[in-house]
Amino acid sequence: MSTPTTPAPSSKWRSRLAVFWITAIVMALVTIVVMMLYTNIARRKWEAQNTVLKIADITEATIDPAIWGQNFPRQYDGYIRTADNAKARFRWSDGRPPDEPDPAHDPNKAESKLTGDPHLKTIFNGYAFAIDYRERRGHAFMLQDQRETDRVTKKPQPGACLNCHASNVVAYREAGIQQGAPGALTDALFSEAGQKQLMTGWEHVNALTYTDATDLVKHPVSCLDCHDPNTMALRITRPAFLEGIANLATSSEPTPHMPSIEQWRKGPKTDAYNPNTLASRQEMRSMTCGQCHVEYHFSGEKKRLTFPWHNGLKMDQAEAFYDKAGFKDWTHADSGADVIKAQHPEFELWSQGIHARSGVSCADCHMPYKREGALKYTDHQVQTPLAHVNLSCQTCHNYTESEILARVDQIQKRTKTHLDRAEAAVVELILAIKEAKAAGATDDQLKPARELQRKAQWRADYLNAENSMGFHAPAESMRIIGESIDYARQGITDIAKLRPATEPK
Ligand code: HEC
Ligand code: HEC
Ligand code: HEC
Ligand code: HEC
Ligand code: HEC
Repeated sequence: MSTPTTPAPSSKWRSRLAVFWITAIVMALVTIVVMMLYTNIARRKWEAQNTVLKIADITEATIDPAIWGQNFPRQYDGYIRTADNAKARFRWSDGRPPDEPDPAHDPNKAESKLTGDPHLKTIFNGYAFAIDYRERRGHAFMLQDQRETDRVTKKPQPGACLNCHASNVVAYREAGIQQGAPGALTDALFSEAGQKQLMTGWEHVNALTYTDATDLVKHPVSCLDCHDPNTMALRITRPAFLEGIANLATSSEPTPHMPSIEQWRKGPKTDAYNPNTLASRQEMRSMTCGQCHVEYHFSGEKKRLTFPWHNGLKMDQAEAFYDKAGFKDWTHADSGADVIKAQHPEFELWSQGIHARSGVSCADCHMPYKREGALKYTDHQVQTPLAHVNLSCQTCHNYTESEILARVDQIQKRTKTHLDRAEAAVVELILAIKEAKAAGATDDQLKPARELQRKAQWRADYLNAENSMGFHAPAESMRIIGESIDYARQGITDIAKLRPATEPK
């Protein structure tokens, strides 16, 4: 008898049983994984939709960012971190010889620009900026730095300084109500009463002394200044921006980077252009910054904060506005020229660059999106984008981080080298006028050179005061610097012509 070749029924069953169990276990595992995946997705979806866990009640009177922070902890976390920002790649104070300690340096204050750029003390002679002029730093410091600068402690300044250095919406509205504006703080900011309170209070606080005005505020720019407390939508709260952008809209200057203005121009124009009702979300992502990062002056006795945008946003258009108004910031102590001080024209220079034209906003680079699980939120640690090239630049530019940094360096170094030459030329012109004056030249004789100093100095200062060292608009920056050098050299030639032919040259 031969043994059967087919397996015994028992072993056949055993293997079937094994297949059954293996299948069952695999099925169970798959089910578990699918279930886990499902709950995970559901949770992420829930997370993504429910980013707001409403704990605190936020109203038009909630100034304290910590209270908003209870509802929006991630944004609040970034906001308070502006106190420990990375250092910008370009800083004037880095121009100081490395072995020389900065005599003006106090560890609680930002570093001095004056010691890093030797031309500035001469250029600003006779004006408060020759006394104290420092690096910018994070938003967390804006109120403290303004209160402590020697420009405020040693010179009288108006309440208008407060416009860009504090959470001031509530302070303005309360002052407005005290001055007789209708309604109460509970009115929506954009209601008729709310706007009346804001404007009346703003006009009142501008004209106060800085000391009286600064007592009305407690915090640097806060959530309420950029967001509607009910919808969290971005909003413009600063009257000077509302007036400035409405003036710009009435000019004929093309604004391809702000399409809602061009759209308004095609309409009946019965109401003034108003960004709060007309601007797109992408436009608001730059306009909120444009309330402060702009060239400005205080006009008239009432110190009304005014942006010189009536002809357009370009450097020369602002200058034409000042010339027509006969405006000067001060008379130069060495040369006697009536000159203008430029202030942080980031919004204006950005407007002339390729990024603005391509629809890239300030927030795209300076407040990029961050991810946490499925959550995408805006980084509120407003700082140099070069602290996170991956989030700020590589979303659009498919190059390595080192290549991107090298491109920024190239732009900044090129700008700085030529800006140095422009500033040197301006200083040379100032000293030439001073010398000619000492030698007896009359005001009439010096007039053309002084006018050229005003032009040359304004251009160099415009680029110096702008905080990207050319990055926001490289070609426009070189144009401005080129003009500065040209005007300064024309002035120097002019003075040389005043010397008697007999005097040795
Ligand atoms: C395409 C990206 C981009 C856009 C858009 C952009 N910036 Fe910048 N910005 C930069 C870079 C790059 C620098 C140089 C940073 C450095 O030197 O570290 C800079 C510098 C600055 C600085 C100085 C930074 C510091 O840390 O001290 C300020 C202020 C600033 N920008 C404001 C603005 C404002 C306001 C807007 C919009 C009107 C704007 N930027 C639009 C990229 C951008
Ligand atoms: C209420 C006015 C105000 C608004 C609005 C504002 N800034 Fe500023 N910003 C300032 C002031 C003032 C400083 C300088 C603070 C200091 O040096 O103490 C500053 C500093 C900065 C710096 C330098 C940070 C650093 O670490 O050196 C950057 C970058 C910047 N702002 C970008 C922006 C961007 C982008 C927006 C829009 C999302 C914006 N700011 C909105 C007033 C403002
Ligand atoms: C239109 C908005 C605006 C107004 C008005 C304004 N600032 Fe500023 N201020 C800024 C911005 C933006 C910065 C950061 C950029 C920079 O430092 O160039 C700044 C920076 C500063 C700084 C730190 C850097 C430095 O310059 O030493 C001081 C101090 C300061 N401002 C004082 C004042 C005083 C004093 C006034 C009133 C005469 C004033 N600010 C009015 C927007 C404004
Ligand atoms: C200088 C202006 C500015 C200030 C101050 C500011 N934000 Fe924002 N915030 C923005 C911008 C710009 C965005 C992006 C909005 C958009 O793309 O529509 C934003 C977006 C948001 C959003 C929407 C979700 C997201 O992350 O994109 C929340 C919530 C928010 N901010 C909360 C806060 C809170 C809380 C504070 C105060 C601690 C604050 N913000 C202060 C400018 C500001
Ligand atoms: C939302 C998209 C976007 C972001 C974010 C962005 N860029 Fe750009 N960038 C562009 C576009 C679009 C151009 C125009 C050239 C083109 O069309 O390819 C450009 C041009 C440039 C140029 C050439 C500039 C010139 O004027 O010749 C440089 C340099 C540059 N980007 C650097 C940066 C850096 C650095 C960052 C981050 C701080 C950045 N970009 C962020 C879209 C972006």
